[in-house]
Amino acid sequence: MIASSSVKDYIRTIVDFPHEGIMFRDVTTLFADPRGFRMAIDQLLNPYAGAQIDKVVGLEARGFILGGAIAHQLSKGFVPIRKKGKLPAATIAEEYKLEYGEAVVEIHDDALAPGEKVLIVDDLLATGGTCEAGIKLCERLGAEVIGCAFIVDLPDLGGRKRLEEMGMDVHTLCAYEGA
Ligand code: PRP
Ligand code: MG
Repeated sequence: MIASSSVKDYIRTIVDFPHEGIMFRDVTTLFADPRGFRMAIDQLLNPYAGAQIDKVVGLEARGFILGGAIAHQLSKGFVPIRKKGKLPAATIAEEYKLEYGEAVVEIHDDALAPGEKVLIVDDLLATGGTCEAGIKLCERLGAEVIGCAFIVDLPDLGGRKRLEEMGMDVHTLCAYEGA
C-alpha cells in the first residue's frame, strides 16, 4: 500500500461478518503495517501529551495490542480488562448488554490503586457498553479515568454520546457513519 497519512486507509472492511448486514471494520491490516501501527499509537496518544497517566487499561481483545504499545511508549504499566473467567487472581466484575444477551468483563481487584489516573484503550467504539463497564471497574477500584481512546467510532450506535454523558473524554481517530 502507498504510505497514507490517515489510519482509515489501513483499515479493511469485511462485508457480512460475523453475520449478514454487518460491515466489520478490521484493524488487523492497520496493525500489520509498520507505518499504520505507529501512526495509530501516536495519534491515540496525541491529546494526552503532558497529561498524567499512571496506568493504561486495555479492553479485550484488540485493546490489549494497542494498550501494550501505548503503555510501552509512556513507560507505564498495562492492565487488562478481560471477558469473564480469564483472569487468574481475585477479580471484580461488571455486566453489560450485547446486541443479543449480556456479557461480563473483569479486572483484577488489585490492578489499580485508588487515585491512579487511567487511560482506557480499545479498537472500536460502538454502543459504548464495553467501555462503560470498563470505566465502572476502574472507578470501583478508586482510579480516575482521564480518557477513553479508540481507533474507530461508529457514531450511529451512540457510544460516544453515552460516554460523554458520563463526563468522559472520548478520543477517536476515524468514524464510519451508517455503522
Ligand atoms: C468489539 C470491539 C469493542 C466492542 C465495542 O469487541 O473490539 O471492544 O466490541 O462494542 P460496544 O461499544 O458496543 O461495547 P467484541 O466484544 O466483539 O470482542 P473482542 O474484542 O474480544 O473480539
Ligand atoms: Mg473488543
